[in-house]
Amino acid sequence: MPGKLHDWPAWREFGSKLASEAIDDDFVKAKQDVIREYGEDKLRSSWLAVCKELQKVTEDIASKRNDIVPILDADELLSKGFRESDVATIRQTGCFIVRGVIPEDDARRLYQDLQDYVRDNKAHVRGWPAESPSMLMLYDSPTQNAIRSHPKHMELQQMVNSLWHDETGQTSSQPLIYLDGARDREPGQPFLGLGPHIDAGSLCRWADPKYRRVYDAVFSGRALEHDAWDLGVRKDADQDLFKGPAHSTVLRSFQGWTALTRAAPKEGTLLLYPNLLTTIAYVLLRPFFRPPTDPDSDVMDPETWMFDESGWFPGTFKPESQYMSRTSHPHLRLEDCLVHIPVMEPGDTVWWHCDVCHAVDPVHEGKENAAVVYVGACPSTPINHKYIKSQLEATLAGRPPPDQDDGTGVSEATFKGYRGHEGLNELARRAFGYNL
Ligand SMILES: [Fe+2]
Repeated sequence: MPGKLHDWPAWREFGSKLASEAIDDDFVKAKQDVIREYGEDKLRSSWLAVCKELQKVTEDIASKRNDIVPILDADELLSKGFRESDVATIRQTGCFIVRGVIPEDDARRLYQDLQDYVRDNKAHVRGWPAESPSMLMLYDSPTQNAIRSHPKHMELQQMVNSLWHDETGQTSSQPLIYLDGARDREPGQPFLGLGPHIDAGSLCRWADPKYRRVYDAVFSGRALEHDAWDLGVRKDADQDLFKGPAHSTVLRSFQGWTALTRAAPKEGTLLLYPNLLTTIAYVLLRPFFRPPTDPDSDVMDPETWMFDESGWFPGTFKPESQYMSRTSHPHLRLEDCLVHIPVMEPGDTVWWHCDVCHAVDPVHEGKENAAVVYVGACPSTPINHKYIKSQLEATLAGRPPPDQDDGTGVSEATFKGYRGHEGLNELARRAFGYNL
């Protein structure tokens, strides 16, 4: 079966409260606020509808596996735009692949450049996890800047942003460049640090009143009417309310990466849960219900779950992304529905909506390094503008991007081979914040 995980990795489980899950007043208040605003009946009504819908969703994914992920061709997409049928599928899956965004030979050359850059500055390039560093804390290398600012890539970023809508007139699909890292993973390196999770914050989804408004339909008993594409509401959400290295200040309409090498299932690639609406609704409602304690009860029957007013949010840690697991989120049927993306070639890109569950391949059993540059799609919004402006100021002052600055980094401007922003065209300079 394509994309099937045969052995479930030793990712963290959140079915019972861990000692490390400290519940403080912020958790208690967040839950109380939602209950006070919406009430048990509406939450339960959504819970039942979402769990029922998940039966269909999970059956569909379990039978199609990664065949469900739309694959588009860059040249066709850029010349003709998204087909209606593609948009309909993307709205459902929340993810897609665009092949051939960077010509393959160029991508291979850019990978060689990145390897040279890392080798030439070895003493200063840091990576994580410490035991097998593959996530490179590099943000301004010539390779990254070449990919982010590539005319085809930038045009694609704008198209990806345009999948969202906004009636407030305060945003646009004009892309901004968020400086993110790169990954270069050698064969044999295990990586269990990023099991099934959703980025763009964790507790803040419930705790920030503006973020909560994004999910108003979910909490109002109309979960399946949730509009996951409303930038007018989402633009105000504070996904960095509780500070943590996992949270980006900016909203990315879609996260994404561009392959510098071939990346295949079980060879250090990405896993996606190819569903958007029902999954995020389930994750948001899950803390308000606890499973039956009677061993004879059917956990998969949502009617048996009891209302939970405790301060526990399973898989929720303030500084981390939102995590899910088999035991804490059983209706997601993660073992059947978390799928490896199809084989990627150098220059291909993968995109997933900021509310889509994903994981980093726990194993790399291939023969070659698996390398990617993280380039998502970042729309123009007031919060994003503010951050990109501060990011540019930091870069020009020789500091790391504010979201990545732990105070211990060495200025990349001093690296051998550093080229800064030379050669950027006008559109790219705008995306890097020069007009802000
Ligand atoms: Fe992630």
